[in-house]
Amino acid sequence: MDTMLNVALPKGRLGEKVYAMFENAGFPCPSIKEVNRKLIFENEECGVRYFWVKPSDVAIYVERGAADIGVAGKDILLEYEPDIYELLDLDTGKCRMAVAAKKGFHDDISRVLRVATKFSNIARNFYLSKGRDIDIIHLNGSIEIAPILGLSDVIVDIVETGTTLKENNLEVIETIVPISARFISNKSSYKFKSEAIDRLVESLEKQLGE
Ligand code: PRP
Repeated sequence: MDTMLNVALPKGRLGEKVYAMFENAGFPCPSIKEVNRKLIFENEECGVRYFWVKPSDVAIYVERGAADIGVAGKDILLEYEPDIYELLDLDTGKCRMAVAAKKGFHDDISRVLRVATKFSNIARNFYLSKGRDIDIIHLNGSIEIAPILGLSDVIVDIVETGTTLKENNLEVIETIVPISARFISNKSSYKFKSEAIDRLVESLEKQLGE
């Protein structure tokens, strides 16, 4: 069995911040700071191997055991419902999942609501819980354009600063759920590498309290 701890980090600013926390927790890997296009870095001495993956793919690596642990947004966990353990809220990468529409929008409940989103599962569950009939229009990005062009009535998307909505004359109608980054683990890795993983969780927890 591979005794190294395999860590999937989300490429980008969040991943860099999270790496610094892992480094503080006793899992440094100095080569990761070299500027190049490499995606895998390891420190054999500390028994850790990091790899940069697309943020929305972290949960797949962890669920299938290609990574033992990783960091993923709660939005991705709610959307794909991967079979993993969610061990810690890292209290960073904070934003919210919200319904937004053109300013002045009024919902006509006698009609099916057209919802454009990248997060079809989250949108479906949300409107199911309200008993509202919807038609989901699945898009892959630039969701804010949909209501402007009349492709949809509303969107379900991530709102961080609110700038994208504002600059497109849209506004939040309702918040669905607050989002933040979560520390996740593969289920069998958590059994076999529990010592290292627990040590990491404990240190991360401590760092959050500082
Ligand atoms: C996200 C989201 C919004 C924007 C919100 O997009 O889909 O478009 O960020 O941020 P704000 O409230 O601070 O303006 P992202 O950059 O992830 O790109 P994409 O959805 O177009 O892929």
